[in-house]
Amino acid sequence: MKMVVGISGASGAIYPYQLLSFLKANTAHEVFVVASDNGRRIFKEELNRDLEEMGFPLFSTKNFDVPSVSGSSKMDQMIIVPCSMGTLGRIAHGYSDDALTRSADVFIKEKRKLIIVPRETPFSLIHIENMRLLSLAGVTIIPAIPSFYSHPKTLEEAAFTVTARILDHMGIENDLRKRWKV
Ligand SMILES: Cc1cc2nc3c(=O)[nH]c(=O)nc-3n(C[C@H](O)[C@H](O)[C@H](O)COP(=O)(O)O)c2cc1C
Repeated sequence: MKMVVGISGASGAIYPYQLLSFLKANTAHEVFVVASDNGRRIFKEELNRDLEEMGFPLFSTKNFDVPSVSGSSKMDQMIIVPCSMGTLGRIAHGYSDDALTRSADVFIKEKRKLIIVPRETPFSLIHIENMRLLSLAGVTIIPAIPSFYSHPKTLEEAAFTVTARILDHMGIENDLRKRWKV
């Protein structure tokens, strides 16, 4: 599959880190990353790592020279993780002013799989309405909310409960966390 991983300026850099690490180590999918300035900055602040280290082609949201901005490109999936409320609101209202929001706009209009992993707390009515609109448009919303019934022992294990859900929805086999009653 060909896929875009978008990273915007919300807390939760551990999620794209786990997702990209998994894709690199376990799959041969063609992946490229589009990150906003704040997405890149928060990745560095939270993980003390640079996105370049992940080993995938990396584009700025200001760079429109990425295939996913056009419906003519043959892309299969897009995942935005984490998704800030700013990026989420712009996508929900078709405000495609950068490569990330435009790519999402293309995935929605072409009826391709788009997964958004929002992170904010609390949610305002505006955030909730924007998520409602995206859900109606066929977007899968997987909030960055870990679960605890698998008794995670570390922060990484707790975060895996979200990353595993993302991979499940991408249709990618994974064993990142213990499933309920399995
Ligand atoms: C350290 C830090 C953490 C942030 N965390 C969040 C967050 O969890 N959710 C959110 O919606 N915005 C968060 N923001 C604000 C966004 O980064 C900001 O609204 C930005 O303009 C979003 O633009 P982008 O979506 O293009 O990255 C955070 C900003 C900083 C500096």
